[in-house]
Amino acid sequence: MNWFEEKGARAMSNIEENLAKSLTAKTTELIPFLPYLLQDLWELGSSPRDIKELIAKHIPVCEETKVLDLACGKGAVSIQLTRTFGCKVKGIDIFKEFIAYAKSKAEEYSVEKICEFIVEDINQSVRVERDYDIVILGAVGDVLGNSIETILKLKSTIKKRGYIIIDDAYSGEGSEERYPSKKQWHQVFQQTGVKLLLRRQLMILNWLKLIE
Ligand SMILES: C[S@@+](CC[C@H](N)C(=O)[O-])C[C@H]1O[C@@H](n2cnc3c(N)ncnc32)[C@H](O)[C@@H]1O
Repeated sequence: MNWFEEKGARAMSNIEENLAKSLTAKTTELIPFLPYLLQDLWELGSSPRDIKELIAKHIPVCEETKVLDLACGKGAVSIQLTRTFGCKVKGIDIFKEFIAYAKSKAEEYSVEKICEFIVEDINQSVRVERDYDIVILGAVGDVLGNSIETILKLKSTIKKRGYIIIDDAYSGEGSEERYPSKKQWHQVFQQTGVKLLLRRQLMILNWLKLIE
């Protein structure tokens, strides 16, 4: 294997590891089975209801609003936003099975003309997608890199006064976990020139409901 092939192979295994982690699979060997294992679920991570509420309360939205849903899974968030606000949404995910499902759901709800879905690695998408009003990264983990890299990449996809909606975890202060603490997230926002508008915390009871 030459240097380029080796680098390519390493990048691929990184993508696969992050993909498995984003769906809480402990090993990449599970990847081929994930669409089957998750076949009964439409919502794979973020609560579409919470995101709709956040947008309705804090972001002006109209039919011209352009939303980018990165790692959209089966499109539960994208489609419910289009249905509620009539806005244009582009959803991107690496799993072709999820995107096929999202497209069929968009047709079921008659929003396929304004809710577009494509199969792509979002590491590629963030290099070309620009000028969105809102970008969403819902329950995706480290796929775009560490928290600073992630916020900068998300920021590059939105307009100057656009909005980033990120659904992610933080750990307790001084904990050994791999997530940044609340304080570190605030530092990340400062370093990346992003203003924190609102933080919504999922309480343990909601977690249990979600898991159920
Ligand atoms: C927990 S799911 C969340 C899905 C969706 N955002 C939601 O909240 O319903 C994580 C998603 O990230 C996607 N994903 C992981 N790595 C990706 C990558 N490199 N490019 C695109 N999608 C990716 C997975 O296929 C999966 O659909």
